[in-house]
Amino acid sequence: MSLPTLAWTGDAATGHLVLLDQTRLPLEVHQRECRRLEDVVESIQSLRVRGAPAIGVAAAYGVVVGMQPFRESSRDEFDQQLAGVTTTLADSRPTAVNLAWALSRSTECAQNRPELDSAAILDRLLEEAVAIQDEDRDTCQAIGRHGAELMPRGAGVLTHCNAGGLATAGSGTALAVLFAAADLGMNIEVYVDETRPLLQGARLTTWELTRHGIPTTLICDSMAAWAMRQGRVQAVITGADRIAANGDAANKIGTYALAVLAREHRVPFYIAAPRSTFDFSLASGEEIPIEERDGGEITRGFGRQTAPDGIGTWNPAFDVTPAELITALVTERGVIEPVTSQQIAKVLGTDGDG
Ligand code: MRU
Repeated sequence: MSLPTLAWTGDAATGHLVLLDQTRLPLEVHQRECRRLEDVVESIQSLRVRGAPAIGVAAAYGVVVGMQPFRESSRDEFDQQLAGVTTTLADSRPTAVNLAWALSRSTECAQNRPELDSAAILDRLLEEAVAIQDEDRDTCQAIGRHGAELMPRGAGVLTHCNAGGLATAGSGTALAVLFAAADLGMNIEVYVDETRPLLQGARLTTWELTRHGIPTTLICDSMAAWAMRQGRVQAVITGADRIAANGDAANKIGTYALAVLAREHRVPFYIAAPRSTFDFSLASGEEIPIEERDGGEITRGFGRQTAPDGIGTWNPAFDVTPAELITALVTERGVIEPVTSQQIAKVLGTDGDG
């Protein structure tokens, strides 16, 4: 992608984060500068930057901008402020575990280095954020390579939400697979769920796929069952925000419904995600915290009121697909099939760093 989803400009002391503001796409390509902690938190909460790996990278850079004011402080003061900054960022969105994972990497940079002054730790925090971003780029490539082998030649492939370059620091997770398959000349056509209520599929995924020259068809979420029944879909692939140790996977609301439909229509259902999206501290998906967002996203999405005044709403942003409905998980370390705790542990390791 020619415009990076996120980029750091300048040095650790005075630099800042620049985000491609995803709330403005596809109509406007607008870059947002984040020079303060509050800018990063607001950008994550309002989905200017979104998608599990991308918010992890944004949070790591958020730590740097959040700690810049304490560059001249004593180490004690710096460490105390660091705890507050990481807590604020961790609380910005609850479901994607990549956020907490990136923040714990930032925290580790400062730990056990009493000999370094605050300015040196700030430099290390920036180096770590850059490392997280660079690693994510490589991870996306590897996911794409492994997943492309699963795609049937000439297939219709359905995807939900946006798990592309906009959601990562590289080419994406689910979309990396589709980009790799297209690059191999596999002649796929992608069906994109519009993804109510915030339309990440309609606004972002179609934008990315068409820029890549992939035949793309936008459908309403409610059309997926009929598309499968009509034989238009030979595989489903999505990303994930958090995957429990047993393979239960949280992703954008509506993903679970697709998995149920795929089972009914004997269509393979794949989830592509990096190791940083796995949360081995959770035995099953029942423990995954699900973000609930403002009901206004349903009743007056994008400005126009579409429901009666005062109507009650329920707006969970994610759901959990049980492992038994997932044909395989595609990771940077290979394909996990069948999706069981044992197979996940075998491919990824469970020792924290893998
Ligand atoms: O609310 P969003 O847009 O952040 O939700 C994003 C998703 O659900 C993605 O599918 C997921 O983060 C995977 S991104 C590679």
